[in-house]
Amino acid sequence: MGDVAVIGTGQSVFSRKCGVSVRELCFEAFQEAMEGLDITKDNIDASIIGSAPEYDKQRTPSGLISEYLELTPKPTFYVESVCSSSSTGLRVAWSLIKAGLHKVVAVIGFQKMSELTSREAAERMGRGGDIIWDSPLGITMPAGYAMYARAHMAKYGTTEEQLAKVRVKSAHYGISNPKAYYRKELSVEDVLGSQVITSPLKLFDCCANADGSSCIIVASEDIATRVAKIPIWIAGVGAATDTMTMAGRKSLTNLSCAVEAAKQAYGMAGLGPEDIDVAEVHDCFTISEIMAYEDLGFAEFGEGARLIDEEQTYIGGKIPVNVDGGLLSKGHPIGATGGSQIRTIVRQLRGEASEAQVKDARIGLVHNIGGIGQYGNVTILRR
Ligand SMILES: CC(C)(COP(=O)(O)OP(=O)(O)OC[C@H]1O[C@@H](n2cnc3c(N)ncnc32)[C@H](O)[C@@H]1OP(=O)(O)O)[C@@H](O)C(=O)NCCC(=O)NCCS
Repeated sequence: MGDVAVIGTGQSVFSRKCGVSVRELCFEAFQEAMEGLDITKDNIDASIIGSAPEYDKQRTPSGLISEYLELTPKPTFYVESVCSSSSTGLRVAWSLIKAGLHKVVAVIGFQKMSELTSREAAERMGRGGDIIWDSPLGITMPAGYAMYARAHMAKYGTTEEQLAKVRVKSAHYGISNPKAYYRKELSVEDVLGSQVITSPLKLFDCCANADGSSCIIVASEDIATRVAKIPIWIAGVGAATDTMTMAGRKSLTNLSCAVEAAKQAYGMAGLGPEDIDVAEVHDCFTISEIMAYEDLGFAEFGEGARLIDEEQTYIGGKIPVNVDGGLLSKGHPIGATGGSQIRTIVRQLRGEASEAQVKDARIGLVHNIGGIGQYGNVTILRR
């Protein structure tokens, strides 16, 4: 069986209130993903839809989206691993193509969070953790990641200023991303002075809920080489799961599911962290990005904060990370996020990233986490 490539990517604008229905939101990403491809929707022989349930009224959204995009009667189905749903979709698409069942698969991720208040959304996200042992005791997403931040500070001496520097970088790059919601420079003082959410995390240490969609068109080697100007090859896909309860975690200073997923992806690609030219990591909170540096092997455990201190994750540094502004600037429409990260790396590897372009980028990595570290997905892409 040949290789599998990403041949098209699209993303809606991420916003706090999109004002359109889920089907229209998905169309925006789908339309961009199909641009410039020498195929039509009739060549797509399956679709995979990813989101987290209970944010909008529509149940079983795959049938609805498939109909609206005129993909019927081709098969469609739903995948879910909360915030990493669209990366899980990409993994499944890769497997289906490798198995010879399909040749062109559309992976569509979406979330419309604006139908809920911020409080209701926090309650839904909390129930993404264990509903007996965690969420009733107040372990919402910010609270869970605040525990990780406190543990990292206690064990390694990481500081609130270092966390703030992650948001300063994200804000800096968010400005040049027309699809990001927050597009304004922030200083360390701005971040440190923002409202405390769950200490030590403040408002600007947190990503914001958003509406958005993403679409990745994946194809077999014979099709990809024929229809895409620059196919981007899927070199490695890693996935792992950790315990639902926080109490079950072996460590509170790194995400074991990310370490395991990275090991698998590097192994499959025959590459190591030193080979990665540009990366997108799941910065749902500033501490998440510092842990990702370590979990992916860009820094030793405990040394992640030094990378941001030394500006090694800026363009021109050792390993540029989240140079599209990350979740912190773009907003985080749960099911759409993984696809948006893939889109950024594909654009980098095609040399289409405009002012955010990392020179000569040929190998890129996407790290996408679901829940408070329950689901880890790492994808390595190669030009
Ligand atoms: C941090 C958080 C609790 C703030 O919620 P909130 O206090 O209810 O705030 P709101 O969402 O009502 O927003 C209040 C204001 O802060 C702004 N804001 C919210 N989050 C922001 C962020 N991350 N960066 C910058 N501004 C932000 C909003 O734009 C809004 O400003 P406006 O009134 O000028 O539009 C909420 O955004 C949150 O839970 N974030 C984490 C989401 C999450 O866990 N996702 C999954 C992670 S894997």
